[in-house]
Amino acid sequence: MNIVTMKKSDYEELLALWSGFTGNTMTGADSRGDFEKFLSRNSDYCFSAFENARLVGSVMAGNDSRRGYIYHLAVDNSLQAKGTGRKLMDAAENALRDAGIEKAHLFIYTDNTAIKFYEKTGWHSRSDITVMSKVLIGDKYVGTRMEE
Ligand SMILES: CC(C)(COP(=O)(O)OP(=O)(O)OC[C@H]1O[C@@H](n2cnc3c(N)ncnc32)[C@H](O)[C@@H]1OP(=O)(O)O)[C@@H](O)C(=O)NCCC(=O)NCCS
Repeated sequence: MNIVTMKKSDYEELLALWSGFTGNTMTGADSRGDFEKFLSRNSDYCFSAFENARLVGSVMAGNDSRRGYIYHLAVDNSLQAKGTGRKLMDAAENALRDAGIEKAHLFIYTDNTAIKFYEKTGWHSRSDITVMSKVLIGDKYVGTRMEE
C-alpha cells in the first residue's frame, strides 16, 4: 500500500471511489474545477492510497492557517480493516502538524459507523458545538444532506 500526495490526475478514480459509498453526497465542491482549486491550495495535506497502481483510498485535508479540516476520507470496501484509513489520517494529521496547525475538525453524519474509526484514532465528538450552515451559491442543497 503506497500513500502518496494527491494529484489532479487522480480525479476520475477519486470520484469513482467516493461515489461507491451510500450517503457520501457529491456536491458542487466535487466538480473538477473546485477539486483542482482545493488541491492547489492544499496540496501538502491531501493523500491518495494506491494498491498495485489502483487508487484505493483518499483523504483531503486543508487549513485556513488557523484550523485544519478533513474531507473525503475513504478506503475501498475490499481493502478496509487493513490499516489504510489510519495511515491516510496519519499522513494528513502529520502534514497539518508540520504546518503548525494545532487542532483539526471534521464533519460526519451522526449515523456514520466511521465515527467508531475516528474514536479509535484519537478523535472525539463534540457536544458543546452545533454546526450551522448557509447556502451561498444556488439552492440545490437546501434541505438535503450535504457533507460540509
Ligand atoms: C472509515 C474508513 C476510512 C476506515 O478505513 P479502514 O482502512 O477500514 O480503517 P483502519 O483499518 O485503518 O482502522 C483503524 C481502526 O479503526 C477500526 N475501525 C475502522 N472502521 C470501523 C468501524 N466502522 N467500526 C468500528 N471500528 C472501526 C479498525 O478496527 C481499526 O482498529 P484497530 O486499530 O484496533 O485494529 C472506511 O471504513 C471507509 O472508507 N468508510 C466509508 C467512507 C466514510 O464513511 N468515510 C468517513 C467520512 S467522514
